[in-house]
Amino acid sequence: MIIAIDGPAASGKGTLARRIAAHYGLRHLDTGLTYRAVAAALLARGMPLGDEAVAIATARNLDLGHLDRELLSSHEIGEAASRIAVLPGLREELVRLQRAFASEPPGAVLDGRDIGTVVCPDAAVKLYATASPTERAKRRTAELLSKGKEADLETVLADLQRRDARDSSRSVAPLKPAEDAHLLDTSEMDIETAFKAAVDIVDSVR
Ligand code: C5P
Repeated sequence: MIIAIDGPAASGKGTLARRIAAHYGLRHLDTGLTYRAVAAALLARGMPLGDEAVAIATARNLDLGHLDRELLSSHEIGEAASRIAVLPGLREELVRLQRAFASEPPGAVLDGRDIGTVVCPDAAVKLYATASPTERAKRRTAELLSKGKEADLETVLADLQRRDARDSSRSVAPLKPAEDAHLLDTSEMDIETAFKAAVDIVDSVR
């Protein structure tokens, strides 16, 4: 069984994906980390973010077993990830890796921006998590502050909106719900409620 979970930054899709994978005994891949890992490698080597050949070569060496969200969580890396995510050849390479991960038994939960539309269009269940921009910015700000990092709501909101705009407007695999995706607006939900709502959807369609 493959479960696809898409949505904008800080929509809660990552936490949902992790919990749903544990609940159904499936493997989990946060595909945002694949873009972040390539971006981090380019930044570390001082390479230009627009160099598609270097980005593709970096992607070919990615080890999906060693993607560490903690190490890749910075705002700078997220921003760079969204900038390299417009490169079609890089996307092709990462989608190949993501599909290989998804195809292994017993199945997997993948979360990202284009899982239901491009990576796994035949997924058994597709969820599209949303929440209002203000709610998402509040969550991200609280998360940063809890980790002892500096964060201010206005700046976080502006950053999220800029990244959403770039992710939604790019020509290749833009952020959008698949036609057969179930929308889950988590604006008014805590994580427990969102998780239960997601499980209800999965159980009703699988
Ligand atoms: O989800 P996360 O914030 O880690 O993703 C970082 C960036 O990677 C996103 O802003 C997006 O541009 C890109 N991405 C993508 N397709 C995916 C996952 C992430 O384009 N499936």
